[in-house]
Amino acid sequence: MRASLLLSLLLASALPAQASSQLALDKGCYSCHGEPPRRNAPSMAQLAADYARYRGQPDAPRQLAEKLRAGGLFAHIAAHERLSPADCEALIRWIIEGAN
Ligand code: HEC
Repeated sequence: MRASLLLSLLLASALPAQASSQLALDKGCYSCHGEPPRRNAPSMAQLAADYARYRGQPDAPRQLAEKLRAGGLFAHIAAHERLSPADCEALIRWIIEGAN
């Protein structure tokens, strides 16, 4: 019991990508960006394909996170806007790296 808890803690810190996919689940991202996506949302795979072009750009995650949280003039998405800056940036990084 105790050993397995320790193991899962170790795994969680060793695998940040996995932690972010859990974060995406927890924050309800897949209710719109799942397969099939809902409303006009792109699927997570489409987002990742689109954001792959930001790989290797150190400022991109912060800028994209700010943009996502700010929302568009006509598109206010609560799930985007209520993310903390840190969570949003972690999710954007994870999407840029392929959202696996
Ligand atoms: C209520 C539905 C909904 C939920 C829930 C949702 N999204 Fe979105 N998302 C959208 C729609 C619709 C778009 C496309 C329109 C737009 O860009 O505003 C979008 C666009 C995006 C984009 C691309 C923005 C751009 O312009 O480049 C990212 C990144 C994104 N979502 C991440 C997330 C993350 C991370 C979560 C979970 C915290 C999430 N979304 C939850 C509906 C949703």
